[in-house]
Amino acid sequence: MTKIGLGLAALGRPEYINIRDENSVDKSIQAFKENAMCMLNTAYDLGIRYFDTAPSYGKGEAFLQEWQNQHQYTDTLLATKWGYTYVANWKIGYKGPHEIKEHSIDKLLEQWQVSKNLLPALKVYQIHSATLESGVLENQKVLKKLALLKKETGLLIGITSSGPHQDLILKEAAEIKIGGVYLFDVFQVTYNVLSQNTFDVLKQLIQENKKVVIKECLANGRVFQNPSELICKLARKYNVGIDAIAFRFVIDSLNPAIVLSGAFSEKQLKENLKALDFSLTEEEINALKSLTLTPKEYWSKRKTLAWN
Ligand SMILES: NC(=O)c1ccc[n+]([C@@H]2O[C@H](COP(=O)([O-])OP(=O)(O)OC[C@H]3O[C@@H](n4cnc5c(N)ncnc54)[C@H](OP(=O)(O)O)[C@@H]3O)[C@@H](O)[C@H]2O)c1
Repeated sequence: MTKIGLGLAALGRPEYINIRDENSVDKSIQAFKENAMCMLNTAYDLGIRYFDTAPSYGKGEAFLQEWQNQHQYTDTLLATKWGYTYVANWKIGYKGPHEIKEHSIDKLLEQWQVSKNLLPALKVYQIHSATLESGVLENQKVLKKLALLKKETGLLIGITSSGPHQDLILKEAAEIKIGGVYLFDVFQVTYNVLSQNTFDVLKQLIQENKKVVIKECLANGRVFQNPSELICKLARKYNVGIDAIAFRFVIDSLNPAIVLSGAFSEKQLKENLKALDFSLTEEEINALKSLTLTPKEYWSKRKTLAWN
C-alpha cells in the first residue's frame, strides 16, 4: 500500500477551499459523481488503498460507498468521521458556513447509522476536528460509545485535529483510556512545511505505535502561493512540482503511516504521487524546516481562506 491516501473533501461537494479557477469545473452532482468515481478508480490503479471521507464532505461517503460496493475490494482501508454536518446542501455560492460542528452523543448516534454501512471496508472511525473547547474529550457518553464500537466492530478509533492547539489536543487524546484500554489509535493532523509545531508530539505518537495520518500537507494550496526559492530549487532538482516536494517533506521528516492527497483531478493526483519516486537529503529536510510559520500566523491565515 502506498503511503499516500486519497481524501474526499474536494470530491464530494461542489465548494471547498480551492485554488483552481472557479469557473473551470462543472458543479452538478452528476459531474462530481463521475469525477469521484474516476478518481477512486485511478487512485486504486496507482496503488492507493487508504480513503478518507466524512458526512460533511457532501456526497463523499455515498460516492465512496457506491464505489466500494461495485468493486467489493477486500484490500481497501476506508476512514470516515462524525461530528460535522454538511448544511450547504449543494447550493452554489452558499453564504454561511458549509458545515456545522456538533460533538454530541446524539450526533454520533445519528451519523453512525449512516457510516456503519461502510463496514466491513470501514477501518477507521474518527472524531471530526476535536477541539479543547468542544469538550468532546471529556464527554463520557461519547467516549464510551466509541469504545463500544471499537470492541464490537474492531474499528480503529481516531481523532482529527485542527487549529493552533493541535499539540495539546493530541496529548490529551493520547492519554484517554476507557476500561483500561487506550481509546484512540489514529491521529489525523495538519502538518506541512508551513505548519510544523506538532512535530514532537507526532514523533512521540509514532514511537508509541499509534497511526499518524497527515492532512492538509499542501496547506490547502498555500504552498503554491509565493513559494520560497528553496522549494522551487528542490522542485527543479528532482524534476517534480512543488506539491511533490511538500509531500516528500512530510514523509521524510516524520514518516507517518499515511499522507492524504486532496487531489481533485487525475493530473494533480499523479503529480502528488511523484513524491514516492525520490527522497530528500537530511540537509534539504533541515533547510525546509526553516519555512515553518508560528501556529498563530498559520491558523489565522487558514481561517481567512475562502470556500469557492
Ligand atoms: N479532519 C479534518 O478536519 C480535515 C480537514 C482538512 C482536510 N482533511 C482531509 O485531508 C485531505 C486533504 O486535505 P485538503 O485537500 O484540505 O488540503 P491539501 O491537500 O493541503 O490541499 C489541497 C489543495 O492543493 C491543490 N493541489 C493539489 N495538488 C495540486 C497540484 N498538483 N497542482 C496544483 N494544485 C494542487 C488543490 O487545488 P485545487 O483547488 O485546484 O483542487 C487544493 O486547493 C482532505 O481530502 C480530507 O480527507 C481533513
